[in-house]
Amino acid sequence: MLPKQVRIVEVGPRDGLQNEKSPFSVEHKINLINLLSQSGLSYIEGGSFVSPKWVPQMANSAQVFTHIDRVEGVTYSALTPNTQGFEDALDSGVDEVAIFGSASERFSQKNINCSVDESLDRFAPVIELAKRYELPVRGYVSCVMGCPYEGDIPPENVAHIARRLHDMGCYEISLGDTIGVGTPTQTKHMLDAVGKQVPMANIGIHFHDTYGQALANIYAALDYGIASIDSAIAGLGGCPYANGASGNVATEDLLYMLNGMAIDTGVNMDLLLKASAFVSEITQRPVESKVANALLNG
Ligand code: HMG
Ligand code: MG
Repeated sequence: MLPKQVRIVEVGPRDGLQNEKSPFSVEHKINLINLLSQSGLSYIEGGSFVSPKWVPQMANSAQVFTHIDRVEGVTYSALTPNTQGFEDALDSGVDEVAIFGSASERFSQKNINCSVDESLDRFAPVIELAKRYELPVRGYVSCVMGCPYEGDIPPENVAHIARRLHDMGCYEISLGDTIGVGTPTQTKHMLDAVGKQVPMANIGIHFHDTYGQALANIYAALDYGIASIDSAIAGLGGCPYANGASGNVATEDLLYMLNGMAIDTGVNMDLLLKASAFVSEITQRPVESKVANALLNG
C-alpha cells in the first residue's frame, strides 16, 4: 500500500559532497544546508565524523554543524563510524547519528577497514553512547543490490545485516544501492527478504542513480509502504570507496514524482530549486536533476 506521507532524508551535504571535486568551502556547505533547511525538508544529513585521511571532504563537519542556522523541526544528522566520531558529533550538536555497515564483506573492508562482524562490534558502543545521550541512531546497509568488489549480493545477506542493526537498536535501517545497479524486480526480491526480518515501518531506502533506475526502484519500494527515502539535492554524490558510482537520486526528481502521486512531503519545490541553483553556481556545471534543469532553464 502506498504511503500517504514520505520523509525525504536529504543526504546531499554528506553523501553528495564527500566525493565532490569542486571547491565546496565550509561557507558553501553552510549556505547549502541553510537553503535546504528553508525548503521544508525535515531531515538533513549534514556531514560525517570519519577519518579525514579517508574522506578529506568531510574534515570540516564540526565547523559546518556549529555554524548552520538551525530551523526548528529539522533533524540534523551525521555519520559516525566509531565512538571517536560519535563524541565529535555530540560536541557539534547533531540531533541524530548514523552508523554504516555493509552487506558485502569486501566493501566493508574497503570502506571502513574492518569485516562486517568487526563493524558491528564497533557500532555497539556507539549505540550505547547514543542511548545515554538520547540520540536516535539510524543504520545504513550498503551494497544491497550489488557490490563493486563482489558483484551480486544475496538478498538474505542484506536481510541478515538489516536485522542485526535493527536488533542492536537502530530505529531505521536505510538500504543502500551504493552503486545504483538494481532494477525494480531486484528491489522487490531484496525487500521481500528484508521484510521477513525487519518491519517495513523501520526501513528506509537509499538509491544511487548510476544506471538511471533509482526512481523506478523507489516506485517499487513505495508499494511496500516504505515512507523514508534518501536523496541528494542536485543528484550530487557517490561513495569514495565505490568507483564509478554516481550520485543519489536527485531530491528535485523524487519530489516531483511524489507530488505527482499526491504523497505529502512538506517540501516546497520553488525553495528547493534555490538550493539546486546554488549547487550549479558552485560546481559550475548543470545539476544532475532532470526536474531542476527543466524548471530552472525551461
Ligand atoms: P582505521 O584506519 O581502521 O581506524 O579507519 P583507526 O581506528 O585505526 O584510526 C586510524 C586513524 O584515524 C587515527 O589517526 C584515528 O585517530 C583516526 P592517526 O593516529 O593515524 O592520526 N580516526 C578518526 N579521525 C576522525 N574521526 C573519526 C576517526 N576514527 C579514527 N571518527 C575508519 C577506520 C572507520 C575511521 C575509516 O575507515 C573511515 O573513516 N572510513 C570512512 C569511510 C567513509 O566515510 N565512507 C563514505 C561513507 S559510507 C557511504 O557513502 C555509503 C552510504 O552512503 C550508503 C550507500 O550508499 O550504500 C552511507
Ligand atoms: Mg550513499
